[in-house]
Amino acid sequence: MKLTLTVISICSALTFSTLSNAGNTQVPYPDGYRNWTHIKSMVIEPGHALATPFQGIHHIYGNKKAMQGQITGKYQDGSVLVFDLLNYTKNDDTIQEADRKLIGVMHKDSTKYTNTGGWGFEGFSANSKTERLTSDGGAGCFSCHMPKEENDYVYSKFRK
Ligand code: HEC
Repeated sequence: MKLTLTVISICSALTFSTLSNAGNTQVPYPDGYRNWTHIKSMVIEPGHALATPFQGIHHIYGNKKAMQGQITGKYQDGSVLVFDLLNYTKNDDTIQEADRKLIGVMHKDSTKYTNTGGWGFEGFSANSKTERLTSDGGAGCFSCHMPKEENDYVYSKFRK
């Protein structure tokens, strides 16, 4: 009897933690991304169609799984891509990095993010790990990534 109760309580604890984990669809902050692989960079100037809100200099990073996806064109669960957007200043005929505006994150989890191509989309303001920028479950982000469906919704390509 005692054993049965213990088994039941362990099972319900497991079920509860599995369920509550599945219910959490918040895209995690990508800790340590500055040490991941740098894929490419771009400067977007005023006047460009993406200038609001993406004017600035951005660098794109991928974790190990995302770098495999860069080769195969299909990204496995756990792949994470980061769009790191900084302001810039123009000095002495140079363009220099300034403070961070935001980061954009794409986090692959094909069971959690079924409405947005299997990718969780989220933005984090400036240097904050908690101030989130999307309120539509990433639908707005995804709509602009949809044209890249044949490449698993990813635009950037690793430059050798
Ligand atoms: C209006 C179009 C547009 C919208 C909206 C948009 N993106 Fe993107 N995104 C792009 C383009 C274009 C690139 C490629 C930039 C480059 O090549 O340097 C890109 C690149 C990225 C990347 C790097 C991986 C890749 O696909 O190249 C991430 C991560 C990203 N975006 C996240 C987001 C998030 C999060 C949002 C919403 C908060 C968002 N994007 C909204 C157009 C968009």
